[in-house]
Amino acid sequence: MEHYSIIIFGGTGDLSRRKLIPALIALADKDPHKHFHVLGIGRKPFDDQQFRKFLLPGAEKHPRVDLHYMAADIEKEDSLLHLKDRMAEIEPGLPAGRIFYLATAYGYFGKIAENIERCCNVRDPFFTRIVAEKPFGSGRESFKKLNAELRARFREEQIFRADHYLAKGTVDNILRTRFSNPLFERVWNSSSIERITVAVHEALGVGSRIAYYDQTGAIKDMVQNHLLQALALVLMRVPEKKDETAFRKAKTEAIRNLRFRGTIRTGQYRGYQDEVRDLNPGSRTETFAELQLHSRDRRWRGTDILLRTGKMLKKREAYIEIMFKKEPCSAYCEFDLPPNKLILHIQPLQNVELTINSTLPGEKVKLTPVKMIYCPTCEFKANTPEGYEIILDECIRGNKRLFMSEEELSAAWRLTDSITAVAEHQMPEIYEAGTDA
Ligand code: BG6
Repeated sequence: MEHYSIIIFGGTGDLSRRKLIPALIALADKDPHKHFHVLGIGRKPFDDQQFRKFLLPGAEKHPRVDLHYMAADIEKEDSLLHLKDRMAEIEPGLPAGRIFYLATAYGYFGKIAENIERCCNVRDPFFTRIVAEKPFGSGRESFKKLNAELRARFREEQIFRADHYLAKGTVDNILRTRFSNPLFERVWNSSSIERITVAVHEALGVGSRIAYYDQTGAIKDMVQNHLLQALALVLMRVPEKKDETAFRKAKTEAIRNLRFRGTIRTGQYRGYQDEVRDLNPGSRTETFAELQLHSRDRRWRGTDILLRTGKMLKKREAYIEIMFKKEPCSAYCEFDLPPNKLILHIQPLQNVELTINSTLPGEKVKLTPVKMIYCPTCEFKANTPEGYEIILDECIRGNKRLFMSEEELSAAWRLTDSITAVAEHQMPEIYEAGTDA
């Protein structure tokens, strides 16, 4: 049996309750050799029993996921002094590894890192790894400070900077789709591609995360990380070598080459002001953002890049759309044919959709755009694992492919700073909930 200790800071938060603990249960279900000893750390004055009750129904029952709790207010000095003793209580012996999951506001990362080092940053014979959740800071300067705090205590190979969009099936598949299909890769440049759109639309509002969200907004919550990461995979060149370092270098380069075109549309859904009334009346935080970028890479010169994200929109859907250039009139000049389009759906479906022009049955002359659709969930009834299950699994294995490097994040923040510098000076337009904004 392999025993792992998973210590979750922010143990009573939404992420821990809805995503991390269910992901650990799913991992334990899949691998009968894994036993997880979980310690949730949070401000709520729970004991182990109350913590288990607080989790989703059924979570407390798994024979190989033991759930424990430690109440600690990280803001208070010495609040984590007992961590070492508590770890000794929950670990049956030497674990195969310890994962410290930082699911708190980034402002606490430094303090937590200091305490982990004091209590349990052991190198051999097992691993100690830190997973840090986005957003890493609120701008490039704060990212650098925060990163330095982590790097002062841990080696780079111990730090896993998570972005759960990288673990989504479609996003993880972008490079395979591109590089294994000459049909796409040969035309994957600005001579053939007019526009690239990355869109993440959400149907829900901010809900219980208002305190976090109001400080963050759509640009830092979504564009800086999820949207830019997906975009980087679309734009990056073939890595020089087939290893993680070369892969992340190519991805970083793609982000470094991006520039903001200078105009952005921001919005706030009607009703947001009621949610934020007690916290920050009159808040100007954007819950929607739509902006254009361009790349300085010669391969992409002339291709428009559009990013779009928002909450409380008409429906939940995320996709990457590659719009090809229109065919200059050659044979069928009498028709105004739409361009070919490739859509990689991220969610709720993971379809790959290619729009081409063809004649419909019975039609002899007319051309009509039709869709060729590959629907993985229809063809293979596979139960695709959730993002956080993959993130935890990859961290246990020590694979960094799905995690972000410091250089990548620094480049992403540099770009984001240029976007927020403009957005800050404008008032978000109010849009009706349940519309396209
Ligand atoms: C999180 C953001 O990173 O991603 C949330 O903080 C957002 O605001 C969420 O709702 C979206 O993730 P998913 O997997 O539901 O699309």
